[in-house]
Amino acid sequence: MEIEINLAPEEFKRTSELKFLPFGKIFTPHMFIMKYDEDKGWHSPKICPFSNIELHPAAIVLHYAQTVFEGLKAYWGVDGKIRLFRVWDHINRLNCSAERMCIPTLEPKLVFEAIKTLVLIDKNWIPREKGSALYIRPFIFATEGTLGLKVSREYLFVIIASPVGAYYKEGFNPIKIYVTEQYIRACPGGTGEVKTGGNYAASLKAQEIAQNKGYTQVLWLDAIERRYVEEVGSMNIFFYFENELTTPMLSGSILPGITRDSVLKLASVLGFSVTERKIAIEEVIEGIEKGTLKECFGTGTAAVITPVGKIFYRNKDYTINRGETGEVTKLFFERITGIQYGETEDLFNWTTLLE
Ligand code: COI
Repeated sequence: MEIEINLAPEEFKRTSELKFLPFGKIFTPHMFIMKYDEDKGWHSPKICPFSNIELHPAAIVLHYAQTVFEGLKAYWGVDGKIRLFRVWDHINRLNCSAERMCIPTLEPKLVFEAIKTLVLIDKNWIPREKGSALYIRPFIFATEGTLGLKVSREYLFVIIASPVGAYYKEGFNPIKIYVTEQYIRACPGGTGEVKTGGNYAASLKAQEIAQNKGYTQVLWLDAIERRYVEEVGSMNIFFYFENELTTPMLSGSILPGITRDSVLKLASVLGFSVTERKIAIEEVIEGIEKGTLKECFGTGTAAVITPVGKIFYRNKDYTINRGETGEVTKLFFERITGIQYGETEDLFNWTTLLE
């Protein structure tokens, strides 16, 4: 399928200085859009000026949340080349999410072409400062207008892009997380392992409580025993114990993070003893008290590698590594961002050069 291109007028294409960027508030002048209906399948892909989208007030997504999304980044390398990080893994995960949400899957090569074309058209919007990137948000949503609960027969697939800096206001400094036992994010058999809006909507109440108490994010426990660590609001979580780097095993209710997977693969190469297993919150707290838990950090496309300096659990704050960023956290941050910005060897062929 040929992508039709309709460029925005010159005045919309001008960039101001892309520094000190807030996360996800500025958008590039173009977007990609493609329609689906039962008769034609996916059709009419086009890149057009960034604009609002008109929806039927009964569009299924607005009422029953039939939608999926992805988040990936394009980087302006130190060599002046533009790189996408693990783009094929993101496309694959988008299709896995779509499958779970009864949304028709997409031809991976077309999604890649769409991302590549959009990024190259808006390449002046890729920030050049280290620590910043162009965040790309592909998403699919159900547009059929009906109030009956059913699988939609019509969809839109859209890709927008936003120049971003750090996700958290703390930047690369340690954040404070809040363990909730009152709410859960996802349960076995649910949709926790796919990127669908409902998971994030369900997390907002606990996040609001945590933020009102001065914490950045919520640390979720499993739905059944409320004991095993799952993930943090917008990232997966790693613990570095004396001789073990560990993260919760994928249970069906945890997002299979692509940065999570990158850390696991790099950790093996770097000689860490690395595990994916069940991690009880008591083990984490005991590790902090006894000094055997040395570091804790989160991983995500938006969050990159974010150190965790404090955990709130049952009315008490527990400080990790004196609230400072540890050496292991720094090492993974440097290794992953080094690959993303073309500074260090891309051992696993994770990056795709666009030009
Ligand atoms: C990402 O890291 O790309 C995400 O989708 C998380 C989102 C809450 C920003």
